[in-house]
Amino acid sequence: MHVHTPLFVLLGVIASGAAAVPSAPALIAQEQPDNAIEFDNSNGIGELPRHIPDTCPIDTISCQHTGVDPCCSPRNGLLVLAQQWDTRWGPSDAFTVHGLWPDTCEGSQLPGGGCDRHRAYTNVSHIIEESTDTALYDDMNKYWPSNKGDNNWFWTHEWVKHGTCVTTLHPRCYDTDSYISQQEVAEYFRSILDLREKYNLFKALNASGIVPTEQMPGRRPKNTYSLQQFKQAIRDAWGVDPNVKCRGSRLQEVWLWFKVRGRDSYYPVEPWGKDTCHRISYQRKST
Ligand SMILES: *[C@@H]1O[C@H](CO)[C@@H](O)[C@H](O)[C@H]1NC(C)=O
Ligand SMILES: *[C@@H]1O[C@H](CO)[C@@H](O)[C@H](O)[C@H]1NC(C)=O
Repeated sequence: MHVHTPLFVLLGVIASGAAAVPSAPALIAQEQPDNAIEFDNSNGIGELPRHIPDTCPIDTISCQHTGVDPCCSPRNGLLVLAQQWDTRWGPSDAFTVHGLWPDTCEGSQLPGGGCDRHRAYTNVSHIIEESTDTALYDDMNKYWPSNKGDNNWFWTHEWVKHGTCVTTLHPRCYDTDSYISQQEVAEYFRSILDLREKYNLFKALNASGIVPTEQMPGRRPKNTYSLQQFKQAIRDAWGVDPNVKCRGSRLQEVWLWFKVRGRDSYYPVEPWGKDTCHRISYQRKST
């Protein structure tokens, strides 16, 4: 299934202040990890001292302040929430999640192997099942199914490639006494399910009268929407444009872009990617 290939083309936008100010010493330190050969942590923060973020400024904005401890503000501070519409999977009145993908502040993707090999777990489904968040596993199955039928593979891939790049979730950002091994994995997925609920695409589209149309097997899609209708509906809901992704005319994904205030308060920003739809076939699910 959709490996996160599509290019993150910069549309000429450079986040203000992203690279203007020299790095604070703490940020320089991570550029020379002493185990850099076996473990490229250049986008993780494993080499920094522990920082319990009880003194984090609450109004820091990702990509707009430098020198802030990466436990307090995500260093890879421009993120994409990708939700998918696959007529074979998930509730008939909900988009399902593909992932939340941190990019660099310049809009580039991070390394395909993720940012922390030490936390490249292979059993993410188990970690979720065993977590203290007892509703998480059911919620994941409902709102984050793999459209290949292998949820452990899918969730593991998303965690390793993207979750490990969320610097605020590094174990060094937790209090040693209360940290439960791998708790950040469950927290990563829960926070994204919460985002999906908050940025509920089905509801936003529905509020503008955009509802799934009847499936017409074997025919060219008839009842299509325009890209502009889709974008306007989402702009009406949240004040920003999405990126809308299709295969042919068939709707596949809607991407919303975010920056972060404080550690984890996501707010939508204008998109940095490309649309791949013209007419959009948004078909009823068969589930
Ligand atoms: C997942 O695998 C890790 C080792 O990679 C192990 O430490 C951990 O206990 C496993 N967790 C579960 C819930 O199976
Ligand atoms: C969709 O919109 C209709 C009418 O505007 C409303 O009655 C219904 O509750 C909405 N459904 C959802 C899931 O938001």
